[in-house]
Amino acid sequence: MKIAVIGSNMVDLTSYITRMPVLGETLEAPDFSMGCGGKGANQAVAAATYGADVLMVTKVGDDLFAENTIANFQKAGIDTKYVTKVPGVSSGVAPIFVDPNGQNSILIIKGANNALKPADIDAAENDLESCKLIILQLEIPLETVYYAIEFGQMHHIPVLLNPAPATKELSIEKACECDFFMPNETELAILTDMPVTTIEEAEKAADSLVARGLKNVIVTLGGQGSLLVTRTGTTFVRPFQVNAIDTSGAGDAFIGCFACCYAETGDVPDAMKTASAFAALSVTKRGTQKSYPQKEEVLTFLRNRR
Ligand code: RIB
Repeated sequence: MKIAVIGSNMVDLTSYITRMPVLGETLEAPDFSMGCGGKGANQAVAAATYGADVLMVTKVGDDLFAENTIANFQKAGIDTKYVTKVPGVSSGVAPIFVDPNGQNSILIIKGANNALKPADIDAAENDLESCKLIILQLEIPLETVYYAIEFGQMHHIPVLLNPAPATKELSIEKACECDFFMPNETELAILTDMPVTTIEEAEKAADSLVARGLKNVIVTLGGQGSLLVTRTGTTFVRPFQVNAIDTSGAGDAFIGCFACCYAETGDVPDAMKTASAFAALSVTKRGTQKSYPQKEEVLTFLRNRR
């Protein structure tokens, strides 16, 4: 099953901290790690790791990071025909802070990701046409996201939009044209102006989006599980209890694995369950893409947790 990811890539610069420094303070962090990240790239690598045939449409910069990012995609078996370099611009980078509970805060500097334009979708048209699903996030210009949604509609290809990072500039009208809308609890709260701290609140907030015309709203709630909210009802997928060391990239792990499973079977709740296991295993290791498990590991985990 061929899946297209039209989106971002970043270089993750992760500091493992004991606490956030206050203004003007210099604080030592015990550990640091660098790796390939970016929401689009993470989702592409997660889908490919779970067995999907992935086509990546993204832009890298004119720096040392670019070749490493391309080589990383290729190592994961991802088609890099439409991964292009932008002269005179840096690659996207993301300083990440992970606290002792494994919770993360992320800054992004989009760099070359800002240069991904509708023309890049046109350039990839022949290959995109044969894809069974298009995945989008919001680390590239909104005009490109909207163009990709229209492309999906025109070619009858389902579109999954991960509204991350959340922005109120996102047109809900455009998002309604997507088949899946997949925010996490923070993004859902920003987009709806509603509190999202419990499963009940998440359902209410997701319901408000469904009332505005969004189709399949899937909310990822980290350690609380995930919710599918549609016009016909709500399905809750329970979480797998694990010892979380680093939650960064877990939402992307869920989305990539979900996309792979859904494209193969069309079974949404089952794809959510497998994605939940994939994401749960990812938080037991450090890093974003580096923490993603192999398919065999996920299947064994699912067998043992029945
Ligand atoms: O979702 C996690 C990702 O967000 C990180 O890999 C970072 O690069 C940012 O894009």
